Amino acid sequence: MTRIFSGIKPTGHLTLGNYLGALRQWVEVDQHRAESLFCVVDLHALTVEHDPARVRRLSRQAATLMLAAGLDPERCAVFVQSHVDEHARLSYLLECVANDGEMRRMIQYKEKSVRERERGGSVRLSLLTYPVLMAADILAYGADEVPVGEDQTQHVELTRDLAVRFNQRYGHTFVVPRATPPKVAARVMDLQEPTSKMGKSHESGAGIVYLLDEPEVVRKKILRAVTDSGREVVYDREGKPGVSNLLEILAACEGRGPEELSGAFDSYGELKKATAEAVVELLRPVRERHRELCAEPGRVDAVLRAGAEKARAMARPTVDAAYRAMGLMMPAGGEV
Ligand code: AMP
Ligand code: TRP
Repeated sequence: MTRIFSGIKPTGHLTLGNYLGALRQWVEVDQHRAESLFCVVDLHALTVEHDPARVRRLSRQAATLMLAAGLDPERCAVFVQSHVDEHARLSYLLECVANDGEMRRMIQYKEKSVRERERGGSVRLSLLTYPVLMAADILAYGADEVPVGEDQTQHVELTRDLAVRFNQRYGHTFVVPRATPPKVAARVMDLQEPTSKMGKSHESGAGIVYLLDEPEVVRKKILRAVTDSGREVVYDREGKPGVSNLLEILAACEGRGPEELSGAFDSYGELKKATAEAVVELLRPVRERHRELCAEPGRVDAVLRAGAEKARAMARPTVDAAYRAMGLMMPAGGEV
């Protein structure tokens, strides 16, 4: 059976980008057709300056939202990365397979390290090694597919390279995975700056729709979205990035292609109104379910505990095999 792994970092509140680029596909498609694991990758949230209490709060919120969006613990494992030691165990081995040049070439590292330095901060070493930990997340489970937004495809490529290299050097151990981005909305752009990705954090947040924003706030953000010169509503990502982003968001909400919607609107204003309503309706059940789940924190804890147990049992044999393959002496009795 196909195996799927994916994750979300608790570095901020989840956004419409997370939902359309990843979470929705996990809920609607992936968990029904494959053995799936979905993870709050909290160790990844420590790669930039962080507030410990906030990371803890956001981890719980991310897990709750994943369940609220419809991940079903009967169908998939939902868990927190730091609850399963195998990720960190395998990451070190993969650091001995990766080289520093390929890490420094990662686009996200280049962008984020510049940002950290500009802020006057130092760059954590873990920011450089982060894609190796991500590779460990995926390879530990023998995942075939990794449903992620477009910004993560380079990291999945690296994961493939590391898997192939390890297998060649030390014997076949890992499945070589592939990224499976959604067809529409694989890169949702910031509403105020439609040439940059909608990320979890931006000074003002005016261009970011958060999953837990009140409907009125969602409407306001979309109605104030930056559009392009001209008046025609056409899908052209290069020439009309603002309008194309709205078309893509609306198309994703309606399960259509953005080109199909080109020409369906007489003005930018009409497009904005339709998009705002579609997003409000899309997020309404998620917000409601989130509110219900917040009232039963014990239920979320129980799901995460069971998810981690299942994940541990799945990852352990592969990670142990990697230890043996690399020449480490296993303790007498066989298991670590
Ligand atoms: P992150 O928030 O960086 O942990 O991302 C979690 C998942 O959401 C990954 O699969 C990302 O590729 C996806 N994602 C994040 N932001 C966007 C975006 N603006 N558009 C599409 N997918 C996104
Ligand atoms: N790096 C991913 C992101 O920023 C999050 C992530 C960590 C992930 N480990 C993963 C995604 C494993 C898929 C599979 O979005």
